[in-house]
Amino acid sequence: MDITFLLNGSPVALSGVDPTMTLLDWLREDRGLTGTKEGCNEGDCGACTVMVVDNRGHKALNACILFLPQLHGRAIRTVEGMQGSNGELHPVQQAMIDCHGSQCGFCTPGFITSMVVGHTQGRTDHDNVLAGNLCRCTGYAPIIRAAQSVEDADPPEWLDDQPETLDASPQAFAPESSDALAAWYQAHPDGTLIAGATDVGLWVTKQLRDLGNVAFLNRCWDLKRFDITDDTIRVGAAVTMTELGETMQLHYPSYAEMIRRYGSEQVRNAATLGGNIANGSPIGDNPPALIAIGATLVLRKGDVRREMAMEDFFVDYGKQDRAPGEFVETIIIPRGQDRLRCYKLSKRFDQDISAVCGCFNISAEDGQIKSARIAFGGMAGIPKRAARAEAALIGQPWTTDTIQTATAAFAQDFEPLSDMRASAGYRLETAKNMLVRYFNEAQGTATSVLEVTS
Ligand SMILES: Cc1cc2nc3c(=O)[nH]c(=O)nc-3n(C[C@H](O)[C@H](O)[C@H](O)COP(=O)(O)OP(=O)(O)OC[C@H]3O[C@@H](n4cnc5c(N)ncnc54)[C@H](O)[C@@H]3O)c2cc1C
Ligand code: FES
Ligand code: FES
Repeated sequence: MDITFLLNGSPVALSGVDPTMTLLDWLREDRGLTGTKEGCNEGDCGACTVMVVDNRGHKALNACILFLPQLHGRAIRTVEGMQGSNGELHPVQQAMIDCHGSQCGFCTPGFITSMVVGHTQGRTDHDNVLAGNLCRCTGYAPIIRAAQSVEDADPPEWLDDQPETLDASPQAFAPESSDALAAWYQAHPDGTLIAGATDVGLWVTKQLRDLGNVAFLNRCWDLKRFDITDDTIRVGAAVTMTELGETMQLHYPSYAEMIRRYGSEQVRNAATLGGNIANGSPIGDNPPALIAIGATLVLRKGDVRREMAMEDFFVDYGKQDRAPGEFVETIIIPRGQDRLRCYKLSKRFDQDISAVCGCFNISAEDGQIKSARIAFGGMAGIPKRAARAEAALIGQPWTTDTIQTATAAFAQDFEPLSDMRASAGYRLETAKNMLVRYFNEAQGTATSVLEVTS
């Protein structure tokens, strides 16, 4: 397996690469670049953050769950590559010194890298930029002060990488179109597709699995597109959470707000919509939102495509309606009046998996409920519609009494589990509260999970 990329400004060409070698292991073990740290090795702490540049700009990614072939044709900067050739520090590095942003220093390379990416992008939402970097000793105030102090400084010219100058010829394991992917998958139905690797990465780093034949989706350019018409938004399966969030901000802002709390900046820059659906997780955040909107899914095997309602894809826990050699190609989201509200409940506000994720899309006319689509994650073995609660709403007056009747129906719709994230009773109770919250918001009452008043 041959791949090419820029590393701290210099071209690297590798042959015979193990396709599931992580960038973190390669940097530390092969190149001796030990500035990039290993903390959790599962995408949670940001100690391994690197900057990756491609034709879509700069992004922070976690090197521990990034496989070398995902870097083909891109440029990488590690913390060792942030200073100029004469040893001049990047303004962010100097600011971290001046503002006392480091104590033991273990997290510091990851913070510096995330801050450099944020600085290059002109970001001032430092909480979002740094939500995926954990510091156990300094405290965040000096780090945020450091980030704020360089908001007006220009990005240094030495970081101006040009990965497009590389000869990144197409690779067999990294198809460059959905047609090429379809042909590969039909020929290798037992192979493993790797999109963002925010799940698959952990199969390797935590479960030590041998993945056999793999194909990477990150160079399937037509799967990374949005096609927007008057009626629909067609989203390619390899669109990342970051890209989806930017588009949903314009169409379904509540969905976009939920995506802002999906993992961290580093996770959202890697994780794809197709991967979050295909893995069939009962606690994936996208499926409930898409089911509530009424989205459909296009599956493709070879040249044959079939379209189904999003909710029909999830058959049972661990079982989806997808044949060997068939992949998620497109997600079709209807456009329309935005009544969607998504409520993600997790133990931490940022960078946490949902205990319950409830998504509501209810319309009323002349005080009567016309339509209702309600879907939950975390309430069953699959993302699931609340069919009985929906039936209890449709045709009824849009009143508190109707809401009370519908919330009672949740107990017939769901038998949630108790696990480390929440008990069954808590899940059911909070699901009911979410519908009450939706009703109150629809009446114009402001609600906020960040502020509780008596
Ligand atoms: C630190 C961390 C935080 C996370 N936080 C959240 C969160 O807040 N909310 C949430 O929902 N999830 C979260 N996740 C889970 C993870 O991000 C998602 O499940 C993710 O969307 C998977 O997408 P991916 O592109 O990374 O998939 P991959 O890991 O590449 O693949 C996942 C599975 O889908 C298959 N696959 C990928 N693309 C396709 C396709 N187009 N067609 C068919 N099969 C395909 C792969 O073969 C594999 O089986 C988190 C993960 C980590 C590591
Ligand atoms: S080592 Fe923790 S995110 Fe990579
Ligand atoms: S400085 Fe010690 S963990 Fe952040």
